[in-house]
Amino acid sequence: MPPPGEIARQQCIRPACGAAYDLKSVHQRCGRCGALLDVAYDWERAPVPDRLGLFDERRGTSREPLDYSGVWRFRELLPFAEPGKVLTIGEGQTQLRRSDGVAAYVGLKPGCLFLQYEGLNPSGSFKDNGMTGAFTHANMVGARYAACASTGNTSASLALFAGVSGLLRAIVFVGSGKIAYGKLSQALDYGAATLQIAGDFDDAMRQVQEVCLQTNLYLMNSLNPFRLEGQKAIMYRVLEGLGWEAPDWVVVPGGNLGNSSAFGKAFAELHHLGLIPRIPRVAIINSTGADTLHRLVNQAGVRWNGGDVDDAAIKAFYAQMDAEKRKARTIASAIEINRPVNLEKALRTLEVTNGVVRAVPDEAILDAKAMVGRHGFGCEPASAASVAGARLLREQGVIGPSERVACILTGHLLKDPHATVGYHSYDEARLREEFGQFGVAGARHANRPIPVADDIEAILRVIRGL
Ligand code: F0G
Repeated sequence: MPPPGEIARQQCIRPACGAAYDLKSVHQRCGRCGALLDVAYDWERAPVPDRLGLFDERRGTSREPLDYSGVWRFRELLPFAEPGKVLTIGEGQTQLRRSDGVAAYVGLKPGCLFLQYEGLNPSGSFKDNGMTGAFTHANMVGARYAACASTGNTSASLALFAGVSGLLRAIVFVGSGKIAYGKLSQALDYGAATLQIAGDFDDAMRQVQEVCLQTNLYLMNSLNPFRLEGQKAIMYRVLEGLGWEAPDWVVVPGGNLGNSSAFGKAFAELHHLGLIPRIPRVAIINSTGADTLHRLVNQAGVRWNGGDVDDAAIKAFYAQMDAEKRKARTIASAIEINRPVNLEKALRTLEVTNGVVRAVPDEAILDAKAMVGRHGFGCEPASAASVAGARLLREQGVIGPSERVACILTGHLLKDPHATVGYHSYDEARLREEFGQFGVAGARHANRPIPVADDIEAILRVIRGL
């Protein structure tokens, strides 16, 4: 195989620009036009298997770290890593699970709904898929310090990779009071310098980009195209879980829009390589409290348009948002983002996959989350946006009852115990008081804890009444 530097480069996503940069240089954006960058490959020179089934041989081979990783066992599909530079902590050992219980809730026939459970990653979210990609690149360029802004999971993942590998010192920027306790506890426990910015994610994201430009901090947010290379593997594992047959739909929550961007790239490449005959449709789901993509696509009509994006419409949208002082506000704190940095790549995904965008209210997210908990492995609120979104798309007739749908559960249930315990245990008044600000008025699927006296008769009475 030729050295990675000969087949991989960084490249501007706008075809009209197309500026290319060396694999081992570090950029936030295209130096020529300011657009996002991709990792691009000369596939003709890369040895790619001629069918996906060949990857089966590596599955479950746990002694070889690159085969154990749910990302690097697909290494031929992200061939940028220099030998010996891959940094893996055993990410991506996740599962695709059929759930007929959640299928019934969504309105799909038995056997049609699958949950891709990314909460099983070492830091409890899908971010580890991307972090192994970015850490590998950081290792290739000799980075000593790295930073990210985060709604919690990126910071947890960065902190964990830094702690386990010892490669670099992690500095994380989080909105003060904005991230769930499970995630904050991870950043602190794993030893990252944790900067609580007096603002929200969008503020922290703006600051971290500026800080990285002014210093030599390596940026670990999904602006970093090597993060997204790793996140492509989530789609490889969905295909693997379905015996290498593409589902009809992939439904994914949309926050900073890194995942949706990576999924579109993965499918475009697999299709280009002749490894899948048909590209699944990708549905990206916002919360109604943080719905920039939904508004831009479904109300302002903004499209990727072959790379000729209506920049003026996007600029005007943000100017109005600022004029109205509109801030993202959702109980799904992981996706509480109004200025998604990967917006253009997500638009590209929508075009490549014939995708759709929807926004779902927080009450629907929490209801869906309770159903995932009851029938699946449980997830944090943002993840359940995928299930709530699939349900909405079924109601609207966009998804058919017999279509095969994979919902991506992005983060573990235990990330945000406050949302879960509140949903199940608050009485109506407390629910309104705490969650009313997010438009949540009821908890349809609450499983209330039962108070009972320290008395055997009382306990037995309760149990007999169940
Ligand atoms: N679900 C979870 C659990 C997340 O943590 C995130 C993003 C998303 C969905 C949205 O994914 O950004 O790729 O569209 N969390 C980031 C963070 C922003 O900082 O942890 P996306």
